[in-house]
Amino acid sequence: MPGGHRLLLENARQVVLVCARGERFLTRAALRSVAVLEGASLVVGTDGYIKAIGPADAIQRQFSEETFEERIDCSGKCVLPGLVDAHTHPVWAGERVHEFVMKLAGASYMEIHRAGGGINFTVECTRQASEEELFDSFQQRLQCMMRAGTTLVECKSGYGLNLQTELKMLRVIARARRELDVSISATYCGAHSVPKGKTATEAADDIVNNHLPKLKELGRSGEIHVDNIDVFCEKGVFDLSSTRRILQGGKDIGLQINFHGDELHPMKAAELGAELGAQAISHLEEVSDEGIAAMATAKCAAVLLPTTAYMLRLKQPRARKMLDEGVIVALGSDFNPNAYCFSMPMVMHLACVNMKMSMPEALAAATINAAYALGKSHTHGSLEVGKQGDCVIINSSRWEHLIYQFGGHHELIEYVIAKGKVI
Ligand code: NIG
Ligand code: FE
Repeated sequence: MPGGHRLLLENARQVVLVCARGERFLTRAALRSVAVLEGASLVVGTDGYIKAIGPADAIQRQFSEETFEERIDCSGKCVLPGLVDAHTHPVWAGERVHEFVMKLAGASYMEIHRAGGGINFTVECTRQASEEELFDSFQQRLQCMMRAGTTLVECKSGYGLNLQTELKMLRVIARARRELDVSISATYCGAHSVPKGKTATEAADDIVNNHLPKLKELGRSGEIHVDNIDVFCEKGVFDLSSTRRILQGGKDIGLQINFHGDELHPMKAAELGAELGAQAISHLEEVSDEGIAAMATAKCAAVLLPTTAYMLRLKQPRARKMLDEGVIVALGSDFNPNAYCFSMPMVMHLACVNMKMSMPEALAAATINAAYALGKSHTHGSLEVGKQGDCVIINSSRWEHLIYQFGGHHELIEYVIAKGKVI
């Protein structure tokens, strides 16, 4: 019986599925290429999920009697999955362009942090901002990310540190989840820095005894929604034992572990994450060989952030070693006042040039593997029947242009589609 559907993408030069057999992540040989259909069409149903993908003539025959709210002629163009950004800090107030000047003059990230700048500076500004102000700037940032092709994004709290401001940030994230088209994975990052006047142990006590029970209570009532727990595990911030307590506390209230580790100093964070069953660990510039092996065995995703090493002139994370060892490698923009980058196409480009990833590896890392890092690869991260209808359409006959043309996605990306709706 004929029926109605939300969207028909017709006759694309390439439809990049990324994967096509229900894989939840891609590693090793599966990353030599990504799955592509030439001359194909895609149908999204009124529920926002993909109904059919196949050769253009077959889809035309199958759906010839049916109606669509919208049809887009994709001749000469490519359709890719919506991009997934696995690590961002997008809720904050204040301005840190002056720190860019300091970094250009040679100051290191930790020198600025110890002098009261960095995270602690943004914490002061964010504590003073109203919920409405925070929502407005957050919404604008999400729109910039969407225009660059992102349709699922991880968003952290972590510029409050005290319970009141952390909850304010989480309410802002919960509101965006309800009101905007982009999909959001929400992360509680109350252990992003040690608050002034406290030790790491005291801060960990406060989080475990006061913050986490409140998150559980407000999560139940629906006032907030939290998916992941994060800690900045770093020398001079949270040591390994405080990190363990906080992550275990989060896991005990049902959160996925997804944290900052082995960024500026080797901390054995990767080993800890693998032991605790972390879904993902970010940064890893200083990860050990044993940590890499442990993450591969534990199927703990490595979220690599090429903008951080670029901005701070750090050594690059060892992406090639991780890929060769079978680690599930994902990418994130790390959007924050230190790394002001909205664009996953730019991130993929940096991953290829600076971290020596291939274009198929980078695309998988910014789609299916990033979705895995957020525990969402059953619904996101590839174009497969039954998954959410999130797509990017580029005005090029080869998908690789999305990575190759750096800094120019405004001209290249024609449409971004979330749940079958053009946004
Ligand atoms: O992932 N490393 C810790 N957190 C952020 C930086 C946050 C900030 O500087 O405001 C990061 O790079
Ligand atoms: Fe970060």
